[in-house]
Amino acid sequence: MDERQRAKVKTMLEFYQDLGIEEFYIRRTEIAKAAPRPQRLTPDSADVQTLSTEKRSESRLQPIHASLGSPPVSQHQLGGSPQAAAAPGPAARPMSLFESASTTAPREHETLEEIHADLGECRRCRLASGRHTIVFGQGNPHAELIFVGEGPGADEDAQGIPFVGRAGRLLNRMIELAGMKREDVYICNVVKCRPPNNRTPLPDEIETCSPFLLRQIQAIKPRLVCCLGAPAVKTLLGAKEGITKIRGQFYDFQGTKALPTFHPAYVLRNPREEKILREDFQKIVDFLKSPC
Ligand code: URA
Repeated sequence: MDERQRAKVKTMLEFYQDLGIEEFYIRRTEIAKAAPRPQRLTPDSADVQTLSTEKRSESRLQPIHASLGSPPVSQHQLGGSPQAAAAPGPAARPMSLFESASTTAPREHETLEEIHADLGECRRCRLASGRHTIVFGQGNPHAELIFVGEGPGADEDAQGIPFVGRAGRLLNRMIELAGMKREDVYICNVVKCRPPNNRTPLPDEIETCSPFLLRQIQAIKPRLVCCLGAPAVKTLLGAKEGITKIRGQFYDFQGTKALPTFHPAYVLRNPREEKILREDFQKIVDFLKSPC
């Protein structure tokens, strides 16, 4: 690596350090080839080869059925510890953001307020210039269920609250039909600022913003994360498959479970899919009723 690249990597690592992310691990494929253990990378690390912050290759997901009566999942599948995440097991696949970034021990106990304060009046990416309000997230800080959407739209940008527009009203209806209350769950997005013209957030915007999402999920420690739509699925699970293929199934995620389903905005455009959204919400309810 030449001096320029080294300086660039150093700046990037310092940036992530500011976000509370202090450890990066090389990809499993690299680990399998090069070393049996993950390498810890710091801003001063001399030998930075492959960073998880590079564009990640996407992976094929295997659904699990642990919550629905099948055998328990292994530690490797759970991807809980860096060591487990690094193990090049038979089902080894490239890491999702959440496997590749880990926070330090004290960060595991941080509160949503602390994360919010750390986010501050964020200007870490270009979305800051077009937003009115940062939409941090809303709901029960001890929720068993987190919904993760894509990014704020115009209504959310105006009010600073996630899912308050048309898609939000559909989400509310689904939550209520499933017998839950909005105030009992937590709702947030992959990015916290409205993308121009509601476009899909760009990879570098997601990469910049999603560490805060990671920290929110780690602070809340839910039993289930419901990924609403493809950007949430890609960001959290590193999935390559389309949402239609993987929705409605449970996946291991950070020692807990994730269930992808359609984004409510998609269902508004395709009302026939509402039935499927309802079915997925029923799965959520059944899962939450099952013993931990
Ligand atoms: N769509 C999203 O993905 N998030 C919101 O908060 C609102 C609409």
